[in-house]
Amino acid sequence: MDSIVVTGGTPLNGQIQIAGAKNAALTLMPVTLLSEEPLTLTNTPRLSDIKTMTALLQSLGVEVTALQDGKVQVLSSHNVTNTTADYDIVRKMRASNLVLGPLLARHHQAIVSLPGGCAIGARPMDIHVTALEALGAEIELKDGYLHAKAKGGLKGNKVPLRFASVGATENVLMAATLAKGTTVIENAAREPEIVDLAQCLRRMGAQIDGEGTDTITIQGVDKLGAATHPVVTDRIELGTYMLAPVFAGGEVECLGGRMDLVGAFAEKLDAAGISVTETDKGLKVARNGARAKAVNVTTEVFPGFPTDLQAQMMAMLCTAEGTSILEEKIFENRFMHAPELMRMGADIEVHGGTATVHGVERLKGAPVMATDLRASVSLILAGLAAEGETVVNRVYHLDRGYEHVEEKLGAVGAKIERVPGS
Ligand code: EPZ
Repeated sequence: MDSIVVTGGTPLNGQIQIAGAKNAALTLMPVTLLSEEPLTLTNTPRLSDIKTMTALLQSLGVEVTALQDGKVQVLSSHNVTNTTADYDIVRKMRASNLVLGPLLARHHQAIVSLPGGCAIGARPMDIHVTALEALGAEIELKDGYLHAKAKGGLKGNKVPLRFASVGATENVLMAATLAKGTTVIENAAREPEIVDLAQCLRRMGAQIDGEGTDTITIQGVDKLGAATHPVVTDRIELGTYMLAPVFAGGEVECLGGRMDLVGAFAEKLDAAGISVTETDKGLKVARNGARAKAVNVTTEVFPGFPTDLQAQMMAMLCTAEGTSILEEKIFENRFMHAPELMRMGADIEVHGGTATVHGVERLKGAPVMATDLRASVSLILAGLAAEGETVVNRVYHLDRGYEHVEEKLGAVGAKIERVPGS
């Protein structure tokens, strides 16, 4: 397994190009299952999760052609031959469950493995199941697989979500585009990736209103057509690289960054005394000298502070002035980066879903282990601020969600290299 070696202490300076959003691409790719016409996605990120989704769709009979080194994906599902998403693919990536809604909508059947737990939590699918049953699907759990049928197709209905689940909103939004009649999703997730999905579906002929609010209305149509759609900028990669100069000092301009994608996060940076400037190319963040100030953070559904930036923020607060309290309200076990940061000299107390961080002057480089996607990048960022060398092991987690981290950070002056594993 590869590891990444970071030597701290060098201020950063320059521009980082932010890629297309992993969590948008992972819901846009299954959209191909809704139509026999081709779907072309541009600005697609080059990540291992995209490769996993490609393998899953190909196992269903979808043709996936990657162009321009994977930045463009052309998908065609005119001859889907299989409607079963196998456990050995789904267990690697929960987002595989996003084929459930589209398969049900157009093929009226699907067998999708339950993803099983992952490092950050049990991650059940009850909200997905209840929502799709509201559209007339019959779903039963057998041998760890959801067996779903929709005889005669899905029917529009009111779909109240008990929690604004991102994946459940995406599954039912995709399914409703081909359901007979009108669907109203209540307490819908409002993430930018949902808005991006709705815009792509609309390009294909879907009739959707209200995306980005907590109520989305969909008029079902008989069929969807071809489309070309650009994947929205990745707000989590954006937030991650906005933090890089806060750790190392210096100034970084994140190209493609938009303030509407990171509102709550940028507000927290501002409260910590870090200025974020909008430029005509993106968002610029600088820290020259003064330490960041401690701030309290509670993760919430969009537009609140994103759970996917919690680990990166905690790492930054480890060397802020004062004590910060972080509450993780979305996942039940998302503080695994804390013990690794403590190996670097961070002073953190974790009690259930609350972490108290007492800022220290400086962290010290150490060998640490990546445990999940966002925790892994928070350790790399911590290495930028630490004295000496930090070796982050098991970086396959990192490659799931971040394109060429060592190249992007290296290009703005970080001392970082990837050491191929044995
Ligand atoms: C999406 O996961 C993202 N993944 C996650 O990003 C992100 O952390 C999460 O949304 C929250 O923003 C993708 O988009 C591929 P949820 P998802 O359904 O859809 C519980 C990353 O790092 N829940 O909003 O799975 C669930 O257990 C990943 O890029 C149920 O109880 O998130 C969790 O506690 C990590 N029953 C909470 O809701 C359900 O049926 C949020 O889950 C569904 C979810």
